[in-house]
Amino acid sequence: MRLYQIFGVLLLAYVAMALPSDAGRSSTVTTVSIVKQFGYPIEEHVVQTSDGYILTMHRIPYSKQTGNDGSKRPVIFLMHGLLCSSSDWVLSGPENGLAFLLSDAGYDVWMGNARGNTYSRKHASKSPLLSPFWDFEWHDIGIYDLPAMIDNVLYQTGEESLQYVGHSQGTTSFFVLNTMIPRFKNRIRSAHLLAPVVWMDHMESPLAKVGGPLLGQPNAFIELFGNAEFLPNTYAMQLMGSLMCRDSSAVQALCSNALFLMGGWDSPYLNATMIPDIMATTPAGCSINQIYHYLQEYNSGFFRQFDYGSTRNKKKYSIKTPPTYDVEAVDVPIYLYYSDNDYFASLIDVDRLRYTLNPSILKRAYRLPEEKWNHLDFLWGMGIKEILYDLVMEDIANA
Ligand SMILES: *[C@@H]1O[C@H](CO)[C@@H](O)[C@H](O)[C@H]1NC(C)=O
Repeated sequence: MRLYQIFGVLLLAYVAMALPSDAGRSSTVTTVSIVKQFGYPIEEHVVQTSDGYILTMHRIPYSKQTGNDGSKRPVIFLMHGLLCSSSDWVLSGPENGLAFLLSDAGYDVWMGNARGNTYSRKHASKSPLLSPFWDFEWHDIGIYDLPAMIDNVLYQTGEESLQYVGHSQGTTSFFVLNTMIPRFKNRIRSAHLLAPVVWMDHMESPLAKVGGPLLGQPNAFIELFGNAEFLPNTYAMQLMGSLMCRDSSAVQALCSNALFLMGGWDSPYLNATMIPDIMATTPAGCSINQIYHYLQEYNSGFFRQFDYGSTRNKKKYSIKTPPTYDVEAVDVPIYLYYSDNDYFASLIDVDRLRYTLNPSILKRAYRLPEEKWNHLDFLWGMGIKEILYDLVMEDIANA
C-alpha cells in the first residue's frame, strides 16, 4: 500500500468518525419550497416500509401549464442517488429539472426518498440519533424502500405499473430490487437508468482510490465504527478537498462537499448559479455502510451482497461469500444513458452491464458524445434538456 493511501485511510476514518459539525443543519431549501417557488403543485406522501422506516415521497401531480384537467396521467417514479434526494430533480428549475419537464409533458411525477436522507429520517421505533437506525445500506433500499414506494404510488394512482427513472445509486437499487424480488417486473414498464452503477471495479472516484483498498475489505470497519450516518466533518472535508482538487480554485467550495469529492468537480457543464442551492440540499445523508458496500465492489469486482467476512457471511447467507445479484435474469425493458467522464460509472463497468443484460430487454445504450459530461451532470449539467432529457423523455413516451 502506498503512503498516500495510508494517509487517505486515516483521513477517511477521521471523516467518518468525527463529530458531525453539520448535524442539525436545517436548510430552508427543500423539494417542496423549490417546486412551490416555481408555482407547481406539490404533495408529500408518507410511506412506511415493512422494516419500519418512514419515508417521504414528493409528487407533482400535474403541471402548472395544464392545470388539473382531471385527465389520467401516466405515472413516473424518479429515484435519486447516493447522498442525494428528491431535490435533485427540481433544483435546476422548470427549464431543466427532469421532474418539471415530465410534468409539463403530461406525467404524474413521483419522487422517492431513500431511508436516511433529509426527508426520510424517521422509523417506527428507532431514532436516527442512535446507531441501530443506520444499520442499512443500498441493498435495503432495493428490497424495502423501492417496493414500499412503488406499491404506494400504484395504490394511490390506481395504476398497475409505472415507469422508473434512476440516477446512480437509484440504478443500483433498481437492480437489487429486480434481482431479489423478480415479480416487480410486472409493476415496472420500463427503466431509464442515468449513470448506471452496477459493477464498480473501474470506478475512478478519488475517494474510492484513497479509501477503497482498506475500507472496501470485508468487514473491515463495520465492527469498529458500528453503524453510523456518513456525516462528513466539515474541517476534514475541507482538508481533503484542498489536497485533492487544489488545481481548480474556481470551484473550491465544491471540493469540501462529499458529493463532489466523490462525483467530481471538474465539469465544464456545472452551472455556477446553482451551486448555493446544491450545497444547501446535498449531501442529503446516508449510512456509512452504503459507502463501504460500494468500496467492496471496487475491491472485489463483484456485484454482490454485503461482505461481512466469512464467519458472519455463513450465518447470514449460509455460504462464506456473499451471493451475487443475478443481473442476467432481470426482465424489465432497460434504457441506459452513460458518459466518458463518469468517475462512478466507468465505461468499462457500464459495458459489462450492457453486455450482461439480456439483449432482448436492453432497448437503448446511449453513450453521450459530450466527453466531459460527469456523474453529477446527469442531474444538473448545463444544456441537459437538449443534451439528454429530450431523448430520455422520447424513450419514456415510446417505451
Ligand atoms: C443555471 O441555473 C440557473 C438557476 O437554476 C438557471 O436559471 C439558468 O437557466 C441555468 N443556466 C443554464 C445555462 O442552464
